[in-house]
Amino acid sequence: MGCTKKALVALIGSIFVAGASSALAGPSAKAMADTCAGCHGTNGQSVGPASPNLAGMSAAYFVESMKGFKALPKDAGHAEDARPATIMNRIAKGYSDEQIEAMGEYFAGLGVYKASVPHDAAKAKTGAEIYDKGCAKCHDEGGALASDDAGILAGQWLPWLEYSMQDFQSGHREMPKKMKKQVEKLSDAEIEAVLHYFASQK
Ligand code: HEC
Ligand code: HEC
Repeated sequence: MGCTKKALVALIGSIFVAGASSALAGPSAKAMADTCAGCHGTNGQSVGPASPNLAGMSAAYFVESMKGFKALPKDAGHAEDARPATIMNRIAKGYSDEQIEAMGEYFAGLGVYKASVPHDAAKAKTGAEIYDKGCAKCHDEGGALASDDAGILAGQWLPWLEYSMQDFQSGHREMPKKMKKQVEKLSDAEIEAVLHYFASQK
């Protein structure tokens, strides 16, 4: 008897949760997110090489990134928080801020995914020391921490990591000041090594 009652409570609970999430943009957030799968993989688990994994990214960073892509006015110089992109600026424009927030909650609700990325183990080992000294403070847990102000770096595809660093180093994308201070200390080989370290994280 006690068991049945428990099951009933659980059932009512699940109906309530399903009802609440469809009233907020639950299922439609998933439907929108599914349209990203061609590049970012099913459930935000990218099969590489140029699109990042989105699974487990914090909602705040997702929203900031999408708004940054949207803010990039073609040929109109840089809005302060605009993010350069090859394709995401066109895609992000297709969504309202509310839709972006709903997708952000959806991806944040998935576990962080680390892909099996081909990398050079020796470079990753050198990179680990560079990471400890210069990057760990902000990209915690080997880059797997879903913080509000930076993305997931652990288990990301190398080409994507490399493009991201190039955008920063070329001045295309504004680098956080304290990150810049660390990056400027490093040689090209050291930067390559630390990116292999992030890619190697399992
Ligand atoms: C045609 C391929 C493609 C599609 C479709 C696509 N993306 Fe992207 N996405 C990329 C690429 C490539 C990048 C790297 C930035 C760039 O070059 O545009 C990226 C970057 C991102 C980032 C930044 C991640 C980070 O860690 O900094 C977010 C967030 C994102 N995409 C969200 C989405 C969402 C949400 C959708 C679906 C509505 C979507 N993307 C659809 C290719 C795609
Ligand atoms: C003081 C904090 C800080 C330090 C130190 C730091 N970063 Fe960052 N990093 C950030 C923040 C914040 C962002 C997100 C920037 C944005 O919003 O555009 C970021 C973004 C990145 C990205 C792009 C991620 C994405 O989603 O597009 C890469 C790659 C990266 N950092 C690599 C490094 C490496 C390598 C080091 C060490 C040499 C490092 N960072 C040190 C704060 C830091």
